[in-house]
Amino acid sequence: MSKAPTFRVDRLLANMGYGSRRDIHALARLGAITLDGAELTDADQRIAVTADLPARMRVDGQALDPPPGLILMLHKPLGVTCSHKEAGPLVYELLPARWRRRDPAISTVGRLDKETSGLLLMTDDGALLHRIISPKAKLAKSYVATLARPLKGDEGAVFAAGTLMLEGEEKPLLPAELEVLGPTQARLTITEGRYHQVRRMFAAVGNHVETLHRDRIGGLDLPADLAPGRFRLLGAGDVARIFGG
Ligand code: URA
Repeated sequence: MSKAPTFRVDRLLANMGYGSRRDIHALARLGAITLDGAELTDADQRIAVTADLPARMRVDGQALDPPPGLILMLHKPLGVTCSHKEAGPLVYELLPARWRRRDPAISTVGRLDKETSGLLLMTDDGALLHRIISPKAKLAKSYVATLARPLKGDEGAVFAAGTLMLEGEEKPLLPAELEVLGPTQARLTITEGRYHQVRRMFAAVGNHVETLHRDRIGGLDLPADLAPGRFRLLGAGDVARIFGG
């Protein structure tokens, strides 16, 4: 078993957004930090950062936030953006305020358009992020689209062919799978992440996406009981599901 990394308490908590290192020392002196029920008064102390730390450490009487290495799923609502470059509320504003001050920072795993809802992963683990978005991983992502016009019937074959060229691009899209859900509704599963890909694919077959919702990444589904705007931390089993699906 690999040994858990150790961190100085002042550095760990400062990097988790609890304040400056000086603030953490002040909290420790006040007895506001406890480990296994005992006050931890010396913030220079090194502790092992294990997965059970939130259950063992309290700050101001509250369970410690998840230590570095977290991954979560957010049910992204419509109208919220993944990018600081776009106007409007950011997905980061849906996380606790303290989590926005963490280092390493929490980033989105890829992006959803402002007007796309559904499953969005966020993590502070750069290696995991790259494993998920890497083109080599070819992780399947499923989107439910409602369309402006009824499907003609040939879209599934066009998307599956692996020859569809999007406007302004030089490489055809990889094969994608279309499941027709109704005259103007379909689930499209793609393994790439090109810019506005799903909207552009339907535009390429003469249609227009009116609403778009991602409900699956790899083998991980957006749970029906996770309301828009809410998030849930993922465990090792969920992460395995992302890659196992
Ligand atoms: N394809 C799109 O067009 N938009 C998204 O948000 C995701 C995939």
